[in-house]
Amino acid sequence: MSRAAVVAGLGAWTPPTLVTNDDLAARLDTDDEWIRTRTGIRQRHVVGPGQATSDLAVEAGRRALASAGVERAGLLVVATSTPDQPLPATAPQVADRLGLGTVPAFDVSAVCTGFVYALATAAGLIATGVADTALVIGADAFSTILDPADRATRVLFGDGAGAVLLRAGSPDEPGALDGVHLGSDGSQHRLIERPGGGSRTGAALAAAAGGQLNGQLLAAGDADGHAAAHDGYLTMQGRAVFAQAVQRTAETVRATAERLRWPLEAIDRLVLHQANARISAAVGQRLGTPADRLVSNIDRVGNTAAASIPLVLADAAAAGDLRPGHRVVLAGFGGGLTWGSVGLVWPRLRGGPIPAAGPSDSPTL
Ligand code: COA
Repeated sequence: MSRAAVVAGLGAWTPPTLVTNDDLAARLDTDDEWIRTRTGIRQRHVVGPGQATSDLAVEAGRRALASAGVERAGLLVVATSTPDQPLPATAPQVADRLGLGTVPAFDVSAVCTGFVYALATAAGLIATGVADTALVIGADAFSTILDPADRATRVLFGDGAGAVLLRAGSPDEPGALDGVHLGSDGSQHRLIERPGGGSRTGAALAAAAGGQLNGQLLAAGDADGHAAAHDGYLTMQGRAVFAQAVQRTAETVRATAERLRWPLEAIDRLVLHQANARISAAVGQRLGTPADRLVSNIDRVGNTAAASIPLVLADAAAAGDLRPGHRVVLAGFGGGLTWGSVGLVWPRLRGGPIPAAGPSDSPTL
């Protein structure tokens, strides 16, 4: 009898500090109308001083555990590309703070597709009996890696976290994950990148500090002329990313639907990574999905990277837009490039989904 990973809990969290389009327009050459019409975003939440990705992850993880009515999970996977620090991974610390003890805990790095990759990884470990339950958290704080002077990226991204609790169950019960499809194209890795912080720029940083690496004195800046100080910022080729996002997201949804033997019109809710409302609309058009079957919260949170899919899931489920029995496909796209999707019939959750905190909620960190 085969085992499947079944969604049993859902929770999300956004930090209380809000940045509106007008706030950005006061500091950058942009305006509310441009941002709304080109992206669909009205506001985003950002971390405050001293807050980091693990703080967001802990809050979302706690909410997903409460939604499932359990206190523990046997495995923790954190999808993030803004870990608290390059090493060690963020997940073990999150596991400790959630009281999960010495469970296996690791990060998955697939940028905005991270949550789908992490779900697939955890589902595989449940299916093979390595774990009976898993907490999968998508958490990112992109506001910490944006160039304050870059209007193209500053307007898009926000911070947050979302989480799902998986348990072992049967492949034919509601909530069972199925039809996983994943892909990547590393030839396009420069379309969205944060060059610094890794081994390639380690040499440049060593030189900037007047140090030596492997016995050689190195010049500041890498072969491409990047100054070390700027390598910590996210860069993006917006138009090319837009085109790739539409094409790859539509392809991965089709692949998952085929694996599930669901005709595209049988999908009740399409839960796309919230990158840009125009990208989601274009994907919906390609697939012939009516607009009211696309769930969205990008107006309130922006692009929250690995947190985006569980955040919009929690919001849609709490609002009653995502209901038990709905056939749902989750699909992500992001840097790498990476993309992926997975399907499930939406289950009835014991404690209900717990959505992200609104701006009036007081922070609990
Ligand atoms: N405010 C005002 N003008 C802006 C702006 C901003 N925040 N950002 C860019 N512009 C300007 C550009 O400089 C350009 O000016 P120019 O014509 O004088 O050169 C103009 O607006 C049009 O730029 P363009 O890049 O063609 O706009 P666009 O319609 O493609 O929208 C993005 C830009 C970034 C919103 C869009 O390309 C996008 O969403 N790309 C995908 C990004 C994404 O989702 N990344 C994450 C994937 S996981």
